[in-house]
Amino acid sequence: MENYKRTTTCGALRAHDAGKSVILNGWVHRKRDHGGISFINLRDRYGITQVVVDADASDKLKAVADELHNEYCIAVTGTVRLRPDTMKNPGMPTGEIEVKAEDIIILSRCAVLPFQIEDENQAREELRLKYRYLDLRTQGMQERIKLRHEVAFAVREWLTAQGFYEIETPTFIKSTPEGARDYLVPSRLYPGKFYALPQSPQLYKQILMVSGFDKYFQIARCYRDEDARGDRQPEFTQIDIEMSFVNREDILTLIEGLFGYVFKKTLGVTLPEHFVRIPYDEAMERFGTDKPDLRFGMEMQDFSEFVPNSTFQAFKDALAQGEAIKQEAQARGITKQGGGVKALVVPGKADYSRKQIEELEAAAKIYKAKGLAWMKVTQDGALEGGAAKFFAEQADAIKTKLGAKPGDLILMVADSNRNIANTALGAVRSKLGKDLGLCDPKRFEFAWIIDFPMFEYNEEEQRWEAAHHMFTWPQEKYHATMEHDPGAVKGDLYDLVLNGFELASGSIRIHDPELQKKVFKIVGFSEAEAEKRFGFLVEAFKYGPPPHGGIAPGLDRLVMLMAGQTSIKEVIAFPKNTFAVSPMDECPSEVDQKQLDELHLCIKYPDK
Ligand code: AMO
Repeated sequence: MENYKRTTTCGALRAHDAGKSVILNGWVHRKRDHGGISFINLRDRYGITQVVVDADASDKLKAVADELHNEYCIAVTGTVRLRPDTMKNPGMPTGEIEVKAEDIIILSRCAVLPFQIEDENQAREELRLKYRYLDLRTQGMQERIKLRHEVAFAVREWLTAQGFYEIETPTFIKSTPEGARDYLVPSRLYPGKFYALPQSPQLYKQILMVSGFDKYFQIARCYRDEDARGDRQPEFTQIDIEMSFVNREDILTLIEGLFGYVFKKTLGVTLPEHFVRIPYDEAMERFGTDKPDLRFGMEMQDFSEFVPNSTFQAFKDALAQGEAIKQEAQARGITKQGGGVKALVVPGKADYSRKQIEELEAAAKIYKAKGLAWMKVTQDGALEGGAAKFFAEQADAIKTKLGAKPGDLILMVADSNRNIANTALGAVRSKLGKDLGLCDPKRFEFAWIIDFPMFEYNEEEQRWEAAHHMFTWPQEKYHATMEHDPGAVKGDLYDLVLNGFELASGSIRIHDPELQKKVFKIVGFSEAEAEKRFGFLVEAFKYGPPPHGGIAPGLDRLVMLMAGQTSIKEVIAFPKNTFAVSPMDECPSEVDQKQLDELHLCIKYPDK
């Protein structure tokens, strides 16, 4: 290698380098032959440089040039020269120059490619993942992996400057209930015992607060055995943070500062100093989701007041049933919402066809809506079509309240469960945002969602569950009443939302063992059960735990959104596919009987 080790990279040469002798190493990106001259675009991580084998080159050099194919790895020795004016390429950083080849050495050859190495790789995802090393050669992947590195570096830099320590926590831990299913690692030394891979470093970071570390962070690998989706992977990375002696405000401000720094440094984008804060209940009412996309408006509005004076029996029934359910729950001491009718005005879309409306209805039905009612505002201001006939007498009041104008489409969902009306119409809003091209990937609209409910009622199991996790601090004002009315309790919980994705989640934690016991009791954990599952945390909290709180932004989702992508696979070097498989190395895979024996494992295959 010594004689042909590169003296510069394929992205560095400019007009002022003309006349220099250089050696380049890289891959043949493209090769064109033109009237006895070969043009080779040589590529490495840094860019592309045009190499030329002139018509008067030696036969030996020409023979090597003839042999070259795409993705051969080569070394080129040559001289930098200015391109003729007509050949300059202003679209390419090295476009003013080319390297006249004097010698070319083939470092390694490339087999027939499964797909072309192109910026916009059109190959099937399965093929891209099987040959991930080739897919990673594309400019897009190279840029995204670079961005990921820069983001991680900026995070470390900024948090370190704020006095944080990065502390590693174990990835072999005790299996504790945390929401998703654990990945387990069998112990060889202790038959029948397992380590779990952490779903997050949650309990360890809280224990680090007990140890007095005060400001902790970790770019931490997390593992969750849950179905993969565009924004989910079985293993993913969090920017995990925990702090002592803080309140919610401290954490929100910290993250605003962190993201402000990271976006400025890596993308040159200036974020607002503070992000909007929307209470959970309000987010559900306005957007039908706790992860609203604020790049567009089209907010949902309450339509219930028009129902009593209408002739729409389905809507009336939904509200009446909702009221009955609410009353019945109230009698059992459970806070429930009752029914709701929500409306959405789609500006200028009165020309939507029945088919288009049916597609929107399908989106609503995924979220359990019984249907999607609609009506149109005609050019002369009348309500027409669909459900218009039920509301004819209230047309003016409806238009005024909803702000609907001639040419607008009004969509409505009613349900005896207000939450269903909200989420179903919210799904319609999201679909419209995408369909109407309102989601500009270059805009970054952050929002904090705060005041989440602390507990959710599991109808199937007839019991309360922690909405986030059991260590969340219930807001002070509910401490006295929370055991009687868990449904009303708001936790000191917050999510950070960016462009319709949940980017981060966190909370202020419980540091009072008595309060912790109450929460365990509400979610049906006996003291013995709590002891068995989290005994070490309960024990640690006997020794002067400080008040503390934290948050964990997902690094994959953050980089995905910064890179304008919709799948986190685009920003992970070696992701799993939708079936939790890595097509490149074919994991998971079977292991030898000997390995199973050592681990005291016997496989029980599912019945076919
Ligand atoms: P939570 O479970 O909400 O909170 O996760 C925090 C953030 O991690 C990211 N994330 C994921 N990213 C990719 N694939 C997944 N399967 C996946 N699951 C989660 C998301 C999410 O917002 N310990 C708490 C945090 C805390 O309270 O401090 C936790 O893990 O961006």
